[in-house]
Amino acid sequence: MSYLETAVEIAREAGALMANYCERRIPFELKGEFDLVTEADRASEKLVVERLRTHFPSHGVVAEEGGGHDPNAEYCWYVDPLDGTTNFAHGFPAFCVSMGLARAGEMVAGVVFDPMHQEMFTAERGAGAYLNNRRIHVSQTKRMNECLGSSGFPARKRHHNVNIHFFYQMAMASHGVRRTGSAALDLAFVACGRLDLFWEFGLKPWDVAAGTLLVTEAGGRVSDMHGAPHSVTLSDDVLADNGALHTEVLDAFADVFAGRLRVPLPPVV
Ligand code: IPD
Ligand code: CA
Ligand code: CA
Repeated sequence: MSYLETAVEIAREAGALMANYCERRIPFELKGEFDLVTEADRASEKLVVERLRTHFPSHGVVAEEGGGHDPNAEYCWYVDPLDGTTNFAHGFPAFCVSMGLARAGEMVAGVVFDPMHQEMFTAERGAGAYLNNRRIHVSQTKRMNECLGSSGFPARKRHHNVNIHFFYQMAMASHGVRRTGSAALDLAFVACGRLDLFWEFGLKPWDVAAGTLLVTEAGGRVSDMHGAPHSVTLSDDVLADNGALHTEVLDAFADVFAGRLRVPLPPVV
């Protein structure tokens, strides 16, 4: 079995576990003021990390809830055992498990599995991206004023996040901006053309490792929000789109970074 096939099997198992917890509507705990975690996050991580260790004893694992090991190994898995915990905790069906494999820092395989819709997104470097084994491609939308975007906001230090400015400008300049609550699903949706673009500040490697490979393998582009190459481990922010929109979106972002608001916020009263 290839790395990807094994990851697909593990993701399916973790997804079944999550779906089961979801039906039972389990309580949440707080990691920070608004940062939720549940028994499902921990149980899914335990399962994924154990399986990866059994199948690939020489590989490292970096996992959100801290269950990883050997982060400096040549092959390293970035695992978000449950991306979309806030959705999950409220029974809102938009969450997934995300596993991305890097070799010497370069993403080589990725899986994002949504257990509520039984959607398995997969990608291998150089071999394309797939949804339930069918090839997927990014959208062909050419102009920002015809696109559907998505973005997100962190749970931690959310008072310091400036994204609302970008969100507003993009919402005014496009068909709209969604906030799904799962960055890994957002990236998978860009890969299959349901969304034309996604951006967010302050994501972690486990949020973006699998999803960014899905986007590039589906023909899209990934950079940071200034247009510099995106690094799963080092970048503070990410912009992923269908490629055709990249320059126009970066121009719009440059205006927001410089405080040139194309559409000023209306006064409340
Ligand atoms: C969160 C989700 C959300 C994003 C947050 C992430 P979690 O991950 O991906 O969409 O906006 O920044 O932290 O906490 O549900 O794994
Ligand atoms: Ca996450
Ligand atoms: Ca998570």
